Amino acid sequence: MEDVSVSQEDMLAINEYLQKNPLDLFKIPNVCALLSARRIQGIDRDHIKGYDGDASRLRSNIIEYNKDGIMGMWALNRPSLLIWPLVSIDYLRMQMPTMKVLSIGPRAEAELFMLVSIGFRIENIKALDLVSYSPSVDIGDMHAMPYEEDSFDVILLGWVIAYSNDNAKVAEEVLRVAKPGAIVAIGCEYSPNAGAQEKAKTHVEINNPLDEEEIDPDYYLWTTQRIHDLFGDRIDRVYFNHDIHEKFKHLTGCCITIFSLK
Ligand SMILES: C[S@@+](CC[C@H](N)C(=O)[O-])C[C@H]1O[C@@H](n2cnc3c(N)ncnc32)[C@H](O)[C@@H]1O
Repeated sequence: MEDVSVSQEDMLAINEYLQKNPLDLFKIPNVCALLSARRIQGIDRDHIKGYDGDASRLRSNIIEYNKDGIMGMWALNRPSLLIWPLVSIDYLRMQMPTMKVLSIGPRAEAELFMLVSIGFRIENIKALDLVSYSPSVDIGDMHAMPYEEDSFDVILLGWVIAYSNDNAKVAEEVLRVAKPGAIVAIGCEYSPNAGAQEKAKTHVEINNPLDEEEIDPDYYLWTTQRIHDLFGDRIDRVYFNHDIHEKFKHLTGCCITIFSLK
């Protein structure tokens, strides 16, 4: 193959295919991001709902910060980093249409579109966030989730757990609402060498910056091992681990793990 250009005829064939299978458009993460952005353009910041329950575990200004995140359309493509690896898990792929999914902290609908794109059904997906402009996203706090125990087959925490002051409580809640054998997928930011504010971006900086020396490096979930430690012996099988490569330890990156529970 010498080039990867798409001819006019190919385009017509693709268009014809997409007319018949419009949901396949969601398989292009940029399209999920684009559709999500278009829907955000139609909303008014004042109409974004915010959690108004017990705020004792929440950082100050977290709600306004994430409303800015919605309006600013931040990181709409990022959920694909956590969602794509799920496709390789046979156990999931074979049962996706019936599995109950919980997305914790999706912020925008792009994450939900991406879950649909790999085979989950929108009617089986619940999403929980402190902020919501979408009927598909419930308002609530991950430290005290408004769901029954044993409710979900798959639970996603994409770049959300770092917002917690109490990671152990989040893990306890995930274990409570997960069905036995559930799959948990967690993605976190790794940002060790930036300054104190950058380092704790989603975590401390939210109008509450700390000095460099106040940051406890053990606190951050920068390795899959640290994440696994939160779930201890409740982990059954680890399907996917991504730790930052030795060569890139000085750069901002991500740490991702996908595992099943006993
Ligand atoms: C950085 S965004 C992550 C967006 C998306 N999941 C991704 O992978 O890019 C974090 C989201 O988690 C939400 N969040 C933070 N703390 C939360 C809590 N205690 N309970 C529920 N959602 C929370 C924020 O409102 C925000 O929408």
